[in-house]
Order: sequence, then structure tokens, then C-alpha cells
Amino acid sequence: MRTMITNIGELTTNDSSEPLTDAAVLIDRGRIEWVGAADDAPSDPEGYEEVDAAGRAVIPGFVDSHSHIVFGGDRAEEFEARMAGQKYAAGGIRSTVAATRSASDDELRARLRGLLDEMLAQGTTTVEIKSGYGLDVATEERLVRLAAEVTPEVTFLGAHVVPAEYADRGDEYVDVVVGEMLDACAPHVKWIDVFCETGAFTVPQSRRVLEAGIARGLQPRVHASQLGRGEGVQLAIELGAASVDHGTYLTDADVAALAASDTVLTLLPGVEFSTRQPYPDARALIDAGVTVALACDTNPGSSFTSSMAFCIAVAVRDMGMTTAEAVWAATAGGARALRRDDIGVIAPGKRADLVLLDAPSRVHLAYRPGVPLIRHVWKDGARVR
Ligand code: NIG
Ligand code: FE
Repeated sequence: MRTMITNIGELTTNDSSEPLTDAAVLIDRGRIEWVGAADDAPSDPEGYEEVDAAGRAVIPGFVDSHSHIVFGGDRAEEFEARMAGQKYAAGGIRSTVAATRSASDDELRARLRGLLDEMLAQGTTTVEIKSGYGLDVATEERLVRLAAEVTPEVTFLGAHVVPAEYADRGDEYVDVVVGEMLDACAPHVKWIDVFCETGAFTVPQSRRVLEAGIARGLQPRVHASQLGRGEGVQLAIELGAASVDHGTYLTDADVAALAASDTVLTLLPGVEFSTRQPYPDARALIDAGVTVALACDTNPGSSFTSSMAFCIAVAVRDMGMTTAEAVWAATAGGARALRRDDIGVIAPGKRADLVLLDAPSRVHLAYRPGVPLIRHVWKDGARVR
């Protein structure tokens, strides 16, 4: 099945520094076959379906490299309390753990697939999904197994917080995580993650978790510096993590180390928005040479948005990013955070994951916050919206 999208007013490829104008893209089955000026588009004797973009903008599908979308219940009341002045605390995770443990596979699957559809409708064509609301061997195994049904980007986050039954016995819980739990989960996952933060896991505990995962062939990524400064960023870089996520409170040394590393910093503006924490200064980070990605961190506690467009709008409005940088961070940046070179770019040979916006330029993503601007979505060459 071949599709020519033509009359594209502005085409963001992430393959050239400026977007193309009056462009066209040819999709052949799951891949991009050709990209260029609409006037130069190859004719096709076999015929292809033609989609007239009528001057609208096209961007790569969003790559959301950080989500926690297999869970039970929600925490709307906690959000309300926060908006009334209460502080965010990672301990809220335990209430989602209780709701998740008591949900059936079918209930969890229905919720997961509903959120995934919601994401796809908003232009997200690749999603990373973490476990972390089970925190016992059987439930963590269920979560990674369900996530693996819908994405190859599955992350084992058994070290999310210490569950209530191990209160004050964090080291014993880590023994379980790096032992029986990792054994059960490793076959379903690509990534190992840990929440390295005061109130979650210490640096030595985090190192144990990450090194155990690496020894099993998993690749590391780390939650760090969400609630305060710490050594999690340095640990992530030392262990060659693909990404360190949050980075709300960074030291100058963290920034310098990130800039000198291959580790992406994934910023999660939905978290600062819904916890009323300060937004990181993405402008300063990019100017210092840090590679920045944007992701939603969709979860019932700290950030229950699934809209990459919303994250782009906040990043532009409050974090000093240009729209071009924010769109790059939400597409190619996310791909880099997942160490993928087949997505996030519109170029021959890449996966045909694209979004046709109901707008003449990508600037509208930030300029028209909250407005549904996703007209069509192609994933692996198939039009899914
Ligand atoms: O990425 N930081 C830890 N984990 C999630 C929050 C989870 C929750 O509050 O339920 C996050 O923000
Ligand atoms: Fe997270």
C-alpha cells in the first residue's frame, strides 16, 4: 500500500535544519520511500493513494519516551488537594499500587489500551511503558507482560518505591527486585529503571538495581532529581543510561556531565504543571549542550496528561524552548532517549510514522494550546486516524 502526502505547507523532517515547504512524502508499506518538493514527486505507474495536505503542516509522530500507563484506579483527589496547597509526595504511589494489585489482567489491559488510543489520537506513534505499580513479583510480571503486548519499549521499574510491606527494609526489598522479580520480568523488557531520590531509593540501592539489570542484558534509564538535588544524574551517566528523566533540580555539575555525555535529559513538563514545582530551564540546558527530550510521564499521580502537544506548549511558554526545539525534543529527542534510529525522523528508509496537523505550521502546537490539531496519524505506514 503506497500513499503520497502532497501539498504539505511545512514539513518537519528532523533530517534538515529547516522545515521543507511545498513538500511531499511517499510512503511505501511501513516505510518512508521518498521526501522532497511536491513538484519533484515521482509519478507512480502502479498508482498510489494521494492525500492532499492542502498547505497544512506534517511532523514526525511523537515519541513519548516515558509513561506509566498500566495501573488501576486514579488519584484525582490527591490532585485536588495539591491544587489546594498540598505538596506532592512520592508516597502516593502506594495507593495506586493497592488499586493495581487488585485489578484483573482484563481491567488493566482495557485501561492501558484506552490510554494508548488516547495517545495515538493525539499523534503519539511510539510509547515507552514502565511497570512500577505492582511492587511484588507476580504483579510486576503482569504489568510488563501487558505492556509488552502493545510496545517493544517496556521498562522494568520494580524499584519505583519501597512497598508498604517492606517499610524500613528497603535493602531487603532491593534483594527481591534484583532477584526473583528481575528473573520474572527480564524476558519481557528492554529497559531497567529506578527512582533514585530521597524517599525512594538511595544511590547505592539504585546502583544495585541498575547493575543487576545491565548484567541481564537490559539497558538503563533513571528517574532522578525530581524532588531535589541528588547523585542520580551522575550515576545514570556513569552507567551509560540512555536517558535520565525529570531533572527538575540539577546542579551545575549535573549539567556539565550531561552535556559531555550520550545520556539524554528527558524533561517532563506535565509533572511540574501538576505538582506546582518549578519548570526546568530548558533554554539554559540546551545552550549548555545537553540533549533534551520531552515526554508526558502519563501516570495517575504526578502527571495525568497524555498530550505531547500540551508538553510542547508548556516547554515553549515556560521553559524557554523554541517551537522547533520542542517539536524536535518530542520526536527525534524521544527516539534518542530510546536509542532508536528508525523513528522520529521523516527520511527514506525510516518508519512511516507521521502526523498531519490541522494547522499551517508546527508553531500552532504551542500557539493554540489545548486545541485538537491532530488531523491524521500514520503509524507504520497505515493511517490510524
Ligand atoms: O515519574 N517519579 C516517580 N514516578 C512517577 C510518579 C508516580 C506517581 O506519583 O504515581 C513519575 O513522576
Ligand atoms: Fe516516571
